[in-house]
Amino acid sequence: MLKAVILIGGPQKGTRFRPLSFEVPKPLFPVAGVPMLQHHIEACAKVPNMKEILLVGFYQPNEELTRFICSAQQEFKILIRYLQEYAALGTGGGIYHFRDQILSGGPEAFFIMNADVCSEFPLPEMLNFQKEHGEPSSFVIMGTTANRKQSMNYGCIVENQQTNEVLHYVEKPSTFVSDIINCGIYLFTPEIFQHIGAVFQKNQQDMLDEQTNGNGWHRAEAIRLEQDIFTALAGQGKLYVYKTPAFWSQIKSAGSAIYASRLYLNQYHKTHPERLFVHTILLLTHTLGPNVSIGTGVTIGAGVRVRESIILHGATLQDHSCVLNCIVGWDSTIGKWARVEGTPSDPNPNDPYAKIDSETLFRDGKLTPSITILGCNVTIPSEVIILNSIVLPHKDLNRSFKNQIIL
Ligand code: GDD
Ligand code: GTP
Repeated sequence: MLKAVILIGGPQKGTRFRPLSFEVPKPLFPVAGVPMLQHHIEACAKVPNMKEILLVGFYQPNEELTRFICSAQQEFKILIRYLQEYAALGTGGGIYHFRDQILSGGPEAFFIMNADVCSEFPLPEMLNFQKEHGEPSSFVIMGTTANRKQSMNYGCIVENQQTNEVLHYVEKPSTFVSDIINCGIYLFTPEIFQHIGAVFQKNQQDMLDEQTNGNGWHRAEAIRLEQDIFTALAGQGKLYVYKTPAFWSQIKSAGSAIYASRLYLNQYHKTHPERLFVHTILLLTHTLGPNVSIGTGVTIGAGVRVRESIILHGATLQDHSCVLNCIVGWDSTIGKWARVEGTPSDPNPNDPYAKIDSETLFRDGKLTPSITILGCNVTIPSEVIILNSIVLPHKDLNRSFKNQIIL
């Protein structure tokens, strides 16, 4: 049997997601109309012999997460559990800490997935690839091609082109290493824990030698899959890269959530035409789209224009308002004839390997133009223009703003 683990991280990460992550943990933010994580879960539930999905992170258990897990278990008929780390243990430390839970029931292999990626999740293809490559207990990383410049923002993989063995792995190198990047989706066998265990032992020994203690246990348990495990496994005949031709993107910033929505909406044509249906009805009566996701309980007035945006539940777009490249927060209101607009940070359309840049908020001391984000319960008056701005929750604006963070 098989299992899957989704690394959901915790509250201190996701700063590029503010102010949206104030209201909902980033892994539950809706992308193409459903929580980001649901796309992973759907893909796992379709894999034959998949018995359980474990979410590993350091969020305090909260109502939203519990509710999501309950409803996803029912909808996808699969066991889902949340395992909470006592501190951020890194991408390898968390799974090592919970290795007994992962191995209980005796899975012959399990997937590990970063929560903050969007993908077609070619999991069956990875299983076939594993059967065909190397020895049965080899580990597989899903990879994709990036361009030279952007590759350095990711884990970079040098492969043996005949065998697809990973010869060399460097996490976010400072000079060009390879245009094959790590997608944050792995297929492991239980043997991976021997390798992580060896790093744990070594960390512990190093600490004894240094004679430091303090929060020692935590220091020994904090292990990164990328730097601590993959770099060492490369060239040992154990680690292989499955290069996917399918779509893939990271979801780090609010702008990349809109881009990821577009990738999933395109996929819905094939997989979930019913999810597009609601939008089609709206399309006939308003000018919405392309790439618009509308939450439940959203009120849209006459003559409203929306494109490349995510409108979260309970929002109201009054008559003739115009919303372009925005995320409109829960229960926010946009007044009549108001124009709320952002600047997309889409990948270069002329470069097939371009990825979306998840920019930092500021460059050279200035706010970089990006999509406009309205936090929850923001009110925009009639006939104003809000451009490239981030508005914190519960603000009642009284005029136009441009390139500002409104606190
Ligand atoms: N449980 C747990 N505990 N999860 C964690 C922790 C932790 O301490 N730290 C990070 N994560 C989760 C995050 O929520 C995210 O889903 C994933 O692990 C990776 O997050 P980062 O450590 O921030 O790495 P990154 O996203 O910058 O880069 C990783 O992903 C890229 C692909 O998107 C690396 O694996 C890169 O090599 C890779 O290219
Ligand atoms: P096809 O994708 O080939 O049908 O091209 P198109 O020109 O009809 O689509 P367009 O470029 O306008 O939109 C790109 C994608 O966004 C398509 O997958 C559409 O289904 C989707 N889309 C367009 N408008 C909407 C909308 O209002 N809501 C939703 N959910 N999706 C939309």
